[in-house]
Amino acid sequence: MSDPVFLITGASSGIGAATARQAAAAGYRLVLAARSLDRLRSLADELGGEERALPLECDVTEWEQQEAVVKTALDRFGRLDVAFANAGFGGARSFLGDTPEHWREMVLTNVYGVALTIRATIETLRETRGHLVLTGSVAGRRALPGSLYSATKWSVTAMGEAARQELNDTGVRVTVIEPGMTDTPFFDNPVSDALEPDDVARTIMFAVSQPAHVDINEILVRPTAQAN
Ligand SMILES: NC(=O)c1ccc[n+]([C@@H]2O[C@H](COP(=O)([O-])OP(=O)(O)OC[C@H]3O[C@@H](n4cnc5c(N)ncnc54)[C@H](OP(=O)(O)O)[C@@H]3O)[C@@H](O)[C@H]2O)c1
Repeated sequence: MSDPVFLITGASSGIGAATARQAAAAGYRLVLAARSLDRLRSLADELGGEERALPLECDVTEWEQQEAVVKTALDRFGRLDVAFANAGFGGARSFLGDTPEHWREMVLTNVYGVALTIRATIETLRETRGHLVLTGSVAGRRALPGSLYSATKWSVTAMGEAARQELNDTGVRVTVIEPGMTDTPFFDNPVSDALEPDDVARTIMFAVSQPAHVDINEILVRPTAQAN
């Protein structure tokens, strides 16, 4: 049997890139999607070139681009085993912060973009009895003051449960990863006492490496020093 295939949105940086590296080390072929094609290409080179890792430019807020990623992945690799809807970004903790345009882009990326990834991958995941993984957040488990970002991640928590129920009895597993503070370009400046992207990637690999009858529904992982 050919090596399984792991698709990641938001693969150009942070948690997505760290997961790509760990999945490659575990024997997966990769489909790397994000808007920064140059960064995806250098990651694909690092992971063995296009036979092993396919870099595909994609804005997750555009349905046609998400459809095209899945079609190209199936044309090139023939199957999809894990779909990781991870692309997203944050915002200010105030309803008076950020611009309305920032809000629009954040909601479209963090909510609509995740829904589009589910829609684009669900049929092919049914065929492989594959695994859908969503990046939520600790902010999707408890509201943060003034945070529309937190509301987008509550939506991801809900989408994970909604997808799990729709896919019940299909063999497809659904996992929501809920990281606490993680030191990635998500933040404008490096953060201390935080998780590393590799820490989050390990939890994802734990979920996807379980036996077929075990579905890890949610993993909430904070740095030891994070109170909220
Ligand atoms: N860092 C944290 O503390 C933390 C905690 C909890 C949850 N999270 C979540 O973890 C996920 C990954 O974030 P990160 O921390 O790894 O930050 P990051 O390093 O900034 O990565 C964000 C990724 O999302 C991609 N992206 C953003 N908008 C996109 C769009 N419209 N279309 C396609 N790709 C898009 C970016 O790539 P391009 O710019 O190249 O498109 C990048 O690859 C996000 O969903 C974030 O909300 C982060």
